Amino acid sequence: MSAVTPPPAAPRPHAGSYDPATTTAGGLAGELARLEAQAELSFDEELRVLRGLGLSSAGGPLVEIGAGSGAVTRRLRRALPGLPLVAVDIDGDLLAHARGAGAELVVADAAELPMETASAGYVLLRYVLQHLPDPAPALAEARRILRPGGRILVTEVDASCWGLADPVHPELADVHAKLAAAQQAAGGDRAIGRRLTRLLRGAGFTEVALHPFATTNDTRPTDDFAPHLGPGRLQPLLAAGVLSLREFALAVDRWNRFRADPDAWVMLLGLTAAGTAPHTAPRGGRTTEGVR
Ligand SMILES: C[S@@+](CC[C@H](N)C(=O)[O-])C[C@H]1O[C@@H](n2cnc3c(N)ncnc32)[C@H](O)[C@@H]1O
Repeated sequence: MSAVTPPPAAPRPHAGSYDPATTTAGGLAGELARLEAQAELSFDEELRVLRGLGLSSAGGPLVEIGAGSGAVTRRLRRALPGLPLVAVDIDGDLLAHARGAGAELVVADAAELPMETASAGYVLLRYVLQHLPDPAPALAEARRILRPGGRILVTEVDASCWGLADPVHPELADVHAKLAAAQQAAGGDRAIGRRLTRLLRGAGFTEVALHPFATTNDTRPTDDFAPHLGPGRLQPLLAAGVLSLREFALAVDRWNRFRADPDAWVMLLGLTAAGTAPHTAPRGGRTTEGVR
């Protein structure tokens, strides 16, 4: 039997510090499950904030940049059936999982969108900017494609105020610091929350404000928080030698203790920054060629 050489894997598109195959335990399948669980956990709260910021079925289309597998796209479709949706991602393999989400799918870099100037009513970026080495080009493109008066909606976290738990496990501080440092070394920024409003103002948006939302285990089982707090996120860091086996075992033990404790309490804090595209349109436009 002759050996068959598999074709070389296609190079991954550059997505900053985001790499679904290596940043989550279980590779791509694990990441798809994590994105789904993450959306399920907090989407209701996020939607409440987005509606409060004026998101409705009118005034679209909504362009979701960095839509990934469509976990949020599908939920937006159900919540706002009349809103035209466009899901954009640099990673065509990931975006293929958004088929059937009720959105037009576009493979593109956030920094170079194949959409006409002033053609969108809303732009949503959820957990995307934290992965970009420089968020400014993506925000400039968001501003370009928004109609004057259109809204940019950016949902993010900040590592320093992202979670509050009781009981506290200060012995895990080094582990969390290493997680943030690994993302930063790959070109991302888990502390982007504190920069959001300044980034939006710097990109020329007006009426910029920050709207936090909290998700707690008062209303959800503690296990639902596993995508954020469980050891799955840490496993690739163990494999890469960033975490020692002792640190990883400590994190697993503390998570297991936490989830078994009926009195344990956790709150995750998300941050949605919003801004309005000004009425002075940016120069330069593109056609819709390349949109599929
Ligand atoms: C953490 S995932 C979030 C996915 C989705 N927004 C969600 O909340 O489920 C980050 C996404 O940003 C995408 N991304 C990273 N850099 C990008 C870029 N330069 N242009 C477009 N998408 C990008 C990744 O491919 C990935 O799908």
